[in-house]
Amino acid sequence: MEAKQHQALCQLLLVLLLLGIASIAKSSCVSDEIEKAHQTVLYAAIASSLLIPNHMASSVVLPLYGNVYPRGFYHVSMKIGNPAKPYFLDPDTGSDLTWLQCDAPCIRCTKAPHPLYKPSNDLIQSTDPLCAAVQPHYHKLKSFEQCQYEVQYADGGSSLGVLLREVIPLNFTNGHKESPRLAIGLISGSFWGGALKGSKMKQNQMTCGYDQIPGSSYHPIDGVLGLGKGKVGIVSQLTEQGLTRNVVGHCLCGQGGGYLFFGSDVYDPSHIIWTRMSHDHSKHYSSGLAELLFDQKATGVKNLLVVFDSGSSYTYLASQPYHTLVSLITKQLQSTSLKDAVEDDTLPVCWKGKKPFRSIREVENYFKPLALSFGSRWKSAARFDIPPDNYLIISKKGSVCLGILNGSEVGLHDLNVIGDISMQDKIVIYDNEAKKIGWGSSDCSMVPKGMTVDS
Ligand SMILES: *[C@@H]1O[C@H](CO)[C@@H](O)[C@H](O)[C@H]1NC(C)=O
Ligand SMILES: *[C@@H]1O[C@H](CO)[C@@H](O)[C@H](O)[C@H]1NC(C)=O
Repeated sequence: MEAKQHQALCQLLLVLLLLGIASIAKSSCVSDEIEKAHQTVLYAAIASSLLIPNHMASSVVLPLYGNVYPRGFYHVSMKIGNPAKPYFLDPDTGSDLTWLQCDAPCIRCTKAPHPLYKPSNDLIQSTDPLCAAVQPHYHKLKSFEQCQYEVQYADGGSSLGVLLREVIPLNFTNGHKESPRLAIGLISGSFWGGALKGSKMKQNQMTCGYDQIPGSSYHPIDGVLGLGKGKVGIVSQLTEQGLTRNVVGHCLCGQGGGYLFFGSDVYDPSHIIWTRMSHDHSKHYSSGLAELLFDQKATGVKNLLVVFDSGSSYTYLASQPYHTLVSLITKQLQSTSLKDAVEDDTLPVCWKGKKPFRSIREVENYFKPLALSFGSRWKSAARFDIPPDNYLIISKKGSVCLGILNGSEVGLHDLNVIGDISMQDKIVIYDNEAKKIGWGSSDCSMVPKGMTVDS
């Protein structure tokens, strides 16, 4: 059961995520000015209609830890509860709900090295609109007074969660400290499988703890930070409480680390390539349909439905575009000294040189830049560049491996997912108010000037 749970959690994390954008520079151009003016008007309209407090202009910046390889994910350390304790959460633009994984008392509590999490008593009722946002297909549970919801995993399994409000203290960039009560989910191992057989959950049965059982496939995080645009998403909730604009962004550093932000006063909007946020794929952040470019040239692969997903470490292409890309790269490598490294199972496709490689620098001449070109009604096509750094990793065995995977293998069907690997060293901004997604190159190791960061 533990193994299954971990596997399911990992798979869930794998499939949960999407999104990305942005960049920083000091110059501006006419179209940016128009864009800014447009935004100002829009925000003024929103502010006057909702009576937003004046600290609405503030933001929250959180440092990120981790990397794509070898660690496999980025996380934020977020304080939750009263008294507040830090939890490691995987920031996921591909899902809305923030949740902590819990364990029932004494299933594993003797192994937990950290104090157990004691949930608040503030359970959300099933009549709360936030509840409808997490259990749209789960009418069966509506008879419970408290908001329970079903969590579907990629492997077909499911678990039960319960929604409650918890204090999440935050430091804002304008110096304010706030402790909003935000809705989060708790998923408890005790409700794993056959959960419906149990009677109504009692709050005093829920205890969450750090789950630090070592193991190679183990994902040492406590939960997920839901950055999706849904009502229950953390940014929507902060906006609802008048604390930040409904904008979220991240800057993942290729060297590891980086930062995450809520609100709009963290980045310089010049030199950011903006695209319209697509409504067609309402659940995820998408810039609409894209064309795949290889070495600046068209590949014939068009109309890709692409989503940005910070919860996915690697990038995924649907079977057909994946096939085309692998063929193009393979052909390209024929005239080089690189050979298939079938013995390296780090990722499905790896190549080796005469000597083990230590850095991407040593191989980048062998590989061509990729790009996704998004059509746009209000500008010429917006290009999301994917240089070799943003689609390759150097494995522990010293081979170079393709960090773009076959999405059909993990059940993504026609969806193409831009994962962390391809968003490294870019600032990526999801502006849910202006309904646009932007990106640009950025040094993500440098938190924007003047921004104090929680640690
Ligand atoms: C991608 O995965 C699907 C499903 O497993 C498989 O049928 C297809 O052949 C794979 N495509 C490539 C190019 O490997
Ligand atoms: C906010 O900043 C103070 C230092 O000014 C720090 O002690 C505190 O832990 C921070 N709060 C959070 C939630 O990170």
